[in-house]
Amino acid sequence: MSGPRDKESELLAVADLHKTFRLRGGREASAVDGVTMSVAAGATLGIVGESGCGKSTLARMIVGLVQPDRGRISFDGKPLPAERSGEARRDIQMVFQDPYSALNPKASVGDSVGLALRVHGHDRAETRRRVRALLDQVGLHANHASYYPHQLSGGQRQRVNIARALALDPRLVVCDEAVSALDKSVQAQILALLRELRTEKNLSFVFISHDLNVVEYMSDQVAVMYLGRIVETGTPAQLYRRPLHPYTKALLASVPQLGTKVREPPVVDGDVPSPLDPPSGCRFRTRCPHATEICAATTPRLEEHDQGQRVACHLYPPQGEAHVRRS
Ligand SMILES: Nc1ncnc2c1ncn2[C@@H]1O[C@H](COP(=O)(O)OP(=O)(O)OP(=O)(O)O)[C@@H](O)[C@H]1O
Ligand SMILES: [Mg+2]
Repeated sequence: MSGPRDKESELLAVADLHKTFRLRGGREASAVDGVTMSVAAGATLGIVGESGCGKSTLARMIVGLVQPDRGRISFDGKPLPAERSGEARRDIQMVFQDPYSALNPKASVGDSVGLALRVHGHDRAETRRRVRALLDQVGLHANHASYYPHQLSGGQRQRVNIARALALDPRLVVCDEAVSALDKSVQAQILALLRELRTEKNLSFVFISHDLNVVEYMSDQVAVMYLGRIVETGTPAQLYRRPLHPYTKALLASVPQLGTKVREPPVVDGDVPSPLDPPSGCRFRTRCPHATEICAATTPRLEEHDQGQRVACHLYPPQGEAHVRRS
């Protein structure tokens, strides 16, 4: 995530994004509540947080699959329209968690990867040539074009999904738990491939994962989400070495040892409150050992603490520091 000083290099900027799902019986679930973030060209923003904290909803709003209730999404300095078409549609692509259900079982790999190219007006010969190049780029063989999804391994299927996402030369790829369904060795190969693609094509990524180690490996900046809000952001070095928010601390404490991989969502004491009835003020206060009255009364803003590290918590700046906290 870039700060105000590097606005020129911002590729994606999201400002005060909100999404509430209306459920049966008139109830409402607040999935994303005022998220502001940005991704620089060629950079990767990692997003972590427990199940249900709004990561996928945020991802889907970025790619245009879910309409925000309010807020702005801009790309390359221009606001993105609610209905994406043309460039806006090509520039941002998504890779989903389940490599099998993301592919049409009745379409060959060549047809799956080539579909978007055909839709965008490439002729048959050009599409065939580009599909071969894309398969090569993701470490598959040209012969794989005639395979069907059930004839591929999970890792190969995810490579097909990545090839498909790359077909239209996007500038940003949103990966929503893109390696979570893969076993560890395959996961490592796919992560290495994504990093290679980032360097070769100057691609930007929004990289969502439960796995803190994977996010650390992939990201230039990390955003920690809790119940629809970003509670802390910074570089992996800042967040993993000196987390500020009590929730970030709890997440990291639940990783047995950095360097070992955790697959399950990390555990913090108590249950995540329901998005149907989120706590007032700071949404983490019901599980926070430091909560005081102000935490219930006032929503803490995401404020810069140190060298780009930002935290939304009333504990910062600690009492006695010179500047006055805004609320
Ligand atoms: N289409 C929908 N209709 C109603 N509620 C939804 C819908 N999509 C998401 N939600 C709710 O919004 C909240 C956030 O869901 P989301 O899928 O964004 O979380 P997540 O962080 O991606 O979780 P996970 O880590 O399990 O994938 C959840 O409470 C979820 O039940
Ligand atoms: Mg999700």
